[in-house]
Amino acid sequence: MASLRSIEELDETSAKAELAQLSKILQQANLAYHGQDAPEISDAEYDALKRRNAAIEERFPALKRADSPSDQVGAAPAEGFSKVTHAISMLSLSNAFDADDITDFDTRVRKYLGTSEDDTLTYTAEPKIDGLSLSLRYENGRLIQAATRGDGSVGENVTANARTISDIPENIPGAHDVLEVRGEVYMSHPDFEALNTRQSESGGKVFANPRNAAAGSLRQLDARITKSRPLRFFAYAWGALSEPLAKTQMDAIARLAAFGFSVNPLTKLCAGPQEMLEHYTQIEEMRATLEYDIDGVVYKVNDLTLQERLGFRSTTPRWATAHKFPAELAWTRLEAIDIQVGRTGALSPVARLSPVTVGGVVVSNATLHNEDYIAGRDSKGETIREGKDIRAGDWVQVYRAGDVIPKVADVDLSKRPNDAERFVFPTVCPQCGSDAIREEGDAVRRCTGGLICPAQAVEKLKHFVSRAAFDIEGLGAKQVEQFYADQWIKEPADIFTLRARFSDGLQQLKNREGWGEKSATNLFDAIDEKRQIPLPRLIFSLGIRHVGEAASNMIALHYGSWENFDAAMRAAVDQSGDAWDDLNAIDGVGTVMASSLTQTLAQPAERASIDRLVAELTVQPVERPDTQGSPVAGKTVVFTGTLEKMTRAEAKARAERLGAKVSGSVSAKTDLLVAGPGAGSKAKKAADLGIETLDEDGWLALISDI
Ligand code: IVH
Repeated sequence: MASLRSIEELDETSAKAELAQLSKILQQANLAYHGQDAPEISDAEYDALKRRNAAIEERFPALKRADSPSDQVGAAPAEGFSKVTHAISMLSLSNAFDADDITDFDTRVRKYLGTSEDDTLTYTAEPKIDGLSLSLRYENGRLIQAATRGDGSVGENVTANARTISDIPENIPGAHDVLEVRGEVYMSHPDFEALNTRQSESGGKVFANPRNAAAGSLRQLDARITKSRPLRFFAYAWGALSEPLAKTQMDAIARLAAFGFSVNPLTKLCAGPQEMLEHYTQIEEMRATLEYDIDGVVYKVNDLTLQERLGFRSTTPRWATAHKFPAELAWTRLEAIDIQVGRTGALSPVARLSPVTVGGVVVSNATLHNEDYIAGRDSKGETIREGKDIRAGDWVQVYRAGDVIPKVADVDLSKRPNDAERFVFPTVCPQCGSDAIREEGDAVRRCTGGLICPAQAVEKLKHFVSRAAFDIEGLGAKQVEQFYADQWIKEPADIFTLRARFSDGLQQLKNREGWGEKSATNLFDAIDEKRQIPLPRLIFSLGIRHVGEAASNMIALHYGSWENFDAAMRAAVDQSGDAWDDLNAIDGVGTVMASSLTQTLAQPAERASIDRLVAELTVQPVERPDTQGSPVAGKTVVFTGTLEKMTRAEAKARAERLGAKVSGSVSAKTDLLVAGPGAGSKAKKAADLGIETLDEDGWLALISDI
C-alpha cells in the first residue's frame, strides 16, 4: 500500500482511492486463497487489510463500495449464510431394515412399472455415507454455487467453504452448460481424531463424531476455518442438468468420476434383491475397516428412464431406498420415568438415563413409547419382553438407529433393585390436571385440556416456529417457552401482533436477559418476514394430528390456495359428499387424516385461533408444476378398467404431474374418463353424463406431446 496514514488524516478523495485499492487487493487475495489454493498474503496481513477497510468505511459510510470486501465471506458476516433455492429439491430416502423390506421394495418398483416377474431389474448398491449432503452447481464448467440440503427446497449458500474441499473440482473442462452434482461431505476417522486432538489442545470445541465435525466445519462463516478442517466429498447423485449424464446410474457415476469427482469404490451393480443383500452383507463386514462412517447401503434402480418413470413420492424417490444397519446398543441405569405432554395432548413417557454412549453419541433420554410398552404389552395387548415391565432404577438396554430418538429396548431383571416400584401411568395430565383419557383402540393416553393445557399450547407454539413450519429466525423453542411463560405469546397469532401490542415492545424485550437492541429488532423483522408464508408450511404449522410435512405438501398442491383449502374443509365437515371424497382421494391422505383435519378445523376454539392467525398473514398459493401446454391441466380425470401399458399408480402420478386432478369416482365434475378393458359402472355413468371417454391409447396420444 502506498500510504498508511491514520484514518483521521484521510480526506474523502484519498479514502475513496484507498477503498478501491483495498477492494482490489482483497479480491485478488480471496481468489488466490479459495480458487487456486495458494494464498499470496498471510492471514494476519489479510485480516489487517480487512480491518483497515472496515475502519475507513466506518468513517466514510457514503464511500462504501458495492463490492465492499466487508460483505464477502471470510469476514464472518453476522447474518449467517444466504439462502439458496434448489432448482430441483434435495430429497431424502425411504428406509428399509431387513431382507423383507428389500424384497418389498423390489415388488413395489415392479408393481409400479408393471414389470413381469421374468424380467430382471438391476439396481446399484453403494454405502450410505454418514455425512451431510451438498449440491454443487457448475455453469460452463465452473463451480458457481454450493448449497447444503436445508429443508430440501432451500439450503444455505456455502460456496466459499466448498471451494476449500480438495475433492471438489473448481473447473470441469468439457462439462455440461449446467451441471449440478450432489453428494456427501464427510470427515475420515484419522482426520477426525487429529482435529479433536488439536481442538482440545487449543481449548476449542471437541466434536462427538465425524458427522458433527463435518457439519460444524462446513457451516463455518469463515471459510478459512473450513479450509483448516480436512473435509472430503463423495459424488453419488445430481440435480439440474442441461443434458443427461448417461442412460444408467452406473454410467452416470462413471461420468462424474471422469469429471474429477471421488465416487465410492464399493458401488456395485446387482441383478435383484438376492445380490443386493449379498452386497449389503459384504459392506457391513467391511464397515469397521472403512476410513469413514457409513450407516447403511443405498439401492437405486439402475435404468435412468425407469427412475424417471418411477418419480417421487412427496419427499422420497420411488426408485431408491436406504437399507440401514441395525441399531447400536448399550446398557445403562434408568434414573426416572417422566411424562411429557405433546402438542396433540399425548402423554409420552420419557426415560431419564445415566448418560451412556450409543454408537458415538451420548444418550441421556430415550422414549418409552406408551403405558403398555412400559407394562410389557404391545398395542394388541400381547406380551413383549416376555412380559417384563420397566421401572425406575432398572438396568435397561438402549438403542438408536441413525438420527431417530433412542429407545429403551430391554430390561435386565437380575439387576433390579429390591425397592423398585411398578410404574403407575397417570390418568390426569401432569401439566394442567385435566383428565387424561385413552380412547378405544388408541395406544396413547391424551390430556383433554386442549388449548387450556399449557403444555399443549407451548408444544403447539414450538411446532409452529419449527424449521419445517414458520422457521422464524431468533424465535426457537427456548424463546417460545420464555414468551409463553410471560404470557406475551399464547397462540401463533400473538407472534404477529407482538410488535403492535407492545408499543414499547422493543424496550421491554431489550431489558430482558439475552436480548439486546439488535436481536430484538432482528426478531421483529424476522417475524414480519414470515407474514408471507407458503401454503404447505402454513398447513403443516397448524400442528393438526396426523398431518405431517409430506401430507401438508400434497394437500397444498391439491387445493392450491388457502381459500380453496379452507372452503373444502368446511364443505367436508360432515364427512360425506364430493368435498370429503375429494380430500380422501389425495395421495397420502387416508380417512384418519381426513377426519382429523376436518374435525380440528371445525372446532370453534381452534377455528377462531386459526382465523386470527390467517388474518395476520399473506398465504402464498402453491405454484403447480409447470403444466404449460398440458391438455389436461386443471381437468378432473378418472381412470377405470385395466390399463395395459402402465399401472394405475403410474397413470395417476403422471396425470397429476401434468396438472390434472385424479378422482376415484365419476361425477358431473369429471372432465375425462380413461377406460381400459373391463370398465363397468363408471363408464356407463360417464356415458350417461356425456363425459368424454378415451381408451388407454387415446390417453397416451393425448399426453404424448408434452
Ligand atoms: S442418494 C434422491 N446415495 O442419505 C435421493 N444418498 O437419507 C438422493 N446419503 O439426503 C440421495 N449416502 O444425504 C444417496 N450413496 C448415497 C448416500 C446418500 C448418504 C444421504 C443423503 C440423503 C440421505 C437420505
